[in-house]
Amino acid sequence: MIILPVPGVYRPQADTRLLVQALLDAPLRPGERVLDAFTGSGAVAIRAAAAGAGHVTAVDISRRAAVSARLNAYLHRRRVQVVRRDITEFARGKRFDVVVANPPYVPSPGAPPTTGPERAWDGGPDGRVLLDRFCRALPDLLDHQGYGLIVHSEVCGSESTVRMLREGGLKAAVVVRQRIAFGPVMNARARWLESAGLVEPGQQHEEVVVIRADRTRP
Ligand SMILES: C[S@@+](CC[C@H](N)C(=O)[O-])C[C@H]1O[C@@H](n2cnc3c(N)ncnc32)[C@H](O)[C@@H]1O
Repeated sequence: MIILPVPGVYRPQADTRLLVQALLDAPLRPGERVLDAFTGSGAVAIRAAAAGAGHVTAVDISRRAAVSARLNAYLHRRRVQVVRRDITEFARGKRFDVVVANPPYVPSPGAPPTTGPERAWDGGPDGRVLLDRFCRALPDLLDHQGYGLIVHSEVCGSESTVRMLREGGLKAAVVVRQRIAFGPVMNARARWLESAGLVEPGQQHEEVVVIRADRTRP
């Protein structure tokens, strides 16, 4: 699927593709209400709509991302409701059958930025600022028997994600793992990641994981 790149918006890459594949394998059932929580270009939301979702909502805090998601949905002739909002504010009081998320998760010195392209990937000193916020929000976003799929690097700790989701009452486990070479952001930051003890000296690969979390209780 060709997604039109808009400058300053996260281009679909290995983690995007892993999340799409996990969604298609889940499998997505026809008619389900899907939320793409950090939509960026809209790539995952559009694939959900193409796979038969009943209603797709795509949320992103960035104006450029919202424009990009609308444009790509239009070009692919898929109906996606795009909302420009902070996901944790948007989430209150809403329920979905499926929630997919590729949050910013790359460890970065200092707090995650509030503007600029780095907002798409910088996740704060342990990479978990947005991830933790989202893990706390997910249980209330899922309808009975709904499930969530979250993709992130093992560098920011899949055990923490699984534990938080279980503490929120969800059944959670890693369902996909893929080893990939560091991209430009991780390469540029490798020394800092080493000094922070987040990667081994000389490490040039990371494991990207998809975590599935099911709401089994009403
Ligand atoms: C890693 S990109 C994922 C893009 C796309 N889903 C993909 O898989 O290719 C993360 C996206 O989260 C957005 N974002 C960052 N903080 C956010 C927040 N608090 N609420 C909603 N979106 C946010 C960024 O603007 C960026 O587009």
